[in-house]
Amino acid sequence: MTESKEELLAAARAAAEKAYSPYSKIRVGAALQAADGRVFAGCNVENASYGLTICAERAAATRAVMDGAREFRSLAIWASLDEPLPPCGACRQFLAEFGGDLAVVIEGAKGGRIETSLGELLPQAMGPDHIGG
Ligand code: THU
Repeated sequence: MTESKEELLAAARAAAEKAYSPYSKIRVGAALQAADGRVFAGCNVENASYGLTICAERAAATRAVMDGAREFRSLAIWASLDEPLPPCGACRQFLAEFGGDLAVVIEGAKGGRIETSLGELLPQAMGPDHIGG
């Protein structure tokens, strides 16, 4: 099954409702579509020790890997901020582990969108090939 961009964004929006973000109060949801069509969602999970916060994108990716998915096609991100919230550097690197050929759509609460790709977000990424992986 292939989710459309709108369906993937809807999954990201639904995931954001699960956010645990008592400190920033920002809700973020990510929906990652695997090459086989499955969709894995994640939300941000904050911590009283702020630096331990896990972003929605990494939550989605770890969930996918746990379920055996390692090839991804597209990613939708939704955040409860007026403007689209681009993925942080850590999440870009984390996702690049699985290849840069990932379409990314990012939506803000006011409906504005950024359509890009992981390759654009993280050009010349360091990845498994560089370390013989
Ligand atoms: N956040 C994400 O979930 N993804 C990102 O790529 C950027 C930041 C979350 C982490 C924290 O809970 C809140 O947004 C503010 O940084």
